[in-house]
Amino acid sequence: MNKNIVILGTQWGDEGKGKIVDVLTKSNSYVVRYQGGHNAGHTLVINKEKIILHLIPSGLLHNNVIGIISHGVVVSPIALFNEVKMLEKNGFFVKNRIFISNSSPLILKYHIDMDIAREKKLGRKALGTTGRGIGPAYEDKISRRALLVGDLKNRDKLYIKLEEIVEYYNHQLVSFYNFPAIDYKKIFKNLLPIIDFFHDMIQDTTHILHTIIKNKKNIIFEGAQGSFLDIDNGSYPYVTSSNSTIGGVITGTGLGPKNFHYILGVTKVYSTRVGYGPFPTELFDHIDKHFSNYGQEFGSTTGRKRRTGWLDAVLLNRAVHLNSLSALCLTKLDVLDGLKEIKICIAYKNIHTLEIIKYPTMYDLENIEPIYEVHPGWNTNTKGITKFHFLPKEAQNYIHRIEEITKIPVDIISTGPDRLHTIFMKNFSIF
Ligand code: IMP
Repeated sequence: MNKNIVILGTQWGDEGKGKIVDVLTKSNSYVVRYQGGHNAGHTLVINKEKIILHLIPSGLLHNNVIGIISHGVVVSPIALFNEVKMLEKNGFFVKNRIFISNSSPLILKYHIDMDIAREKKLGRKALGTTGRGIGPAYEDKISRRALLVGDLKNRDKLYIKLEEIVEYYNHQLVSFYNFPAIDYKKIFKNLLPIIDFFHDMIQDTTHILHTIIKNKKNIIFEGAQGSFLDIDNGSYPYVTSSNSTIGGVITGTGLGPKNFHYILGVTKVYSTRVGYGPFPTELFDHIDKHFSNYGQEFGSTTGRKRRTGWLDAVLLNRAVHLNSLSALCLTKLDVLDGLKEIKICIAYKNIHTLEIIKYPTMYDLENIEPIYEVHPGWNTNTKGITKFHFLPKEAQNYIHRIEEITKIPVDIISTGPDRLHTIFMKNFSIF
């Protein structure tokens, strides 16, 4: 039987999913991106070279791997084109190994302008989006006016639909947001060379995926963002516009729940968040500086400094439930090296009523403060360790404590950015 793995984030994104997808991908297998768009930034370090992927599935840097961008993803054809070219420059030839769903909504210039215009208008109340047009593109999908990737193959339809949609957007951009009007003919002209480039890659990816499963091949499904950026389960409205929890993989691929056999929740051993919104364990002291400096916590898509905080096990437990997680993968363990003590948030206290909260409502994550459990740190270097028993006892205890709190096993520990900096707690050769 084939074994399919879903890899998703349990926090606010940037958990290090890209490296784990890359590590678990074997040659001759398949990797699927199923939600989000080029707002994601997956950083990989291969032979000491840093490569940042936004739309292309992370496992594709292995030879012979096939990448699929299924219909849950919103696709900027220009961003995808540029990414393929960037990889070619770095010696990775992926064009003939990618399929894109004909039903994926397109992201075009008017989505990006609208995203930026709205954030500007919101001023201090802005969400802190990546400015990639993600929200407006998903809005077009839900309101049934989106242009789809498949429309790129029909130039006449594309031209007519572009004119209609741009008229709709220009009305808002110019009259309400005071932004310059967009020229649909220019968008069309800029798309023409790209259309030819993508022509053969555009397919019915649901059919492809069912065929792969019928042929008993293994697939890795690569989540983008994290559980609490999910449009339905996250800290609304400070969320992205897709389902980054487990449901997104079903609706975003056209597969059913029985097709997924192992769901791995990637968790950074501390927390980070980019953009605005509640962050109960956020730090503003020297520990924040430590996480920023040693963890290199700067957005891989926008370059913004990420906000940092201690591990929040209250939210982590919620992510375990939301996603039916099979196991956890802990990342960036080495960033905790040298800290005197390490905290885990195990409950919240309402700052007004002093009530202790273990199952918070996502509706109101604002009026709470964290209650911490304090663990001893370690003064040795864990970077690059590949065996659990080589970790300092304090680190081993910290990891076991996370297993105890979440009631699921930690199956992988990442001790550095390189593929090789990984501890496997179980045998992954069955996948
Ligand atoms: P959008 O997805 O660009 O609309 O941004 C909505 C929120 O999600 C903002 O707070 C972004 O910073 C955040 N976000 C989107 N993609 C990522 C990601 O890949 N990692 C971390 N945060 C993200």
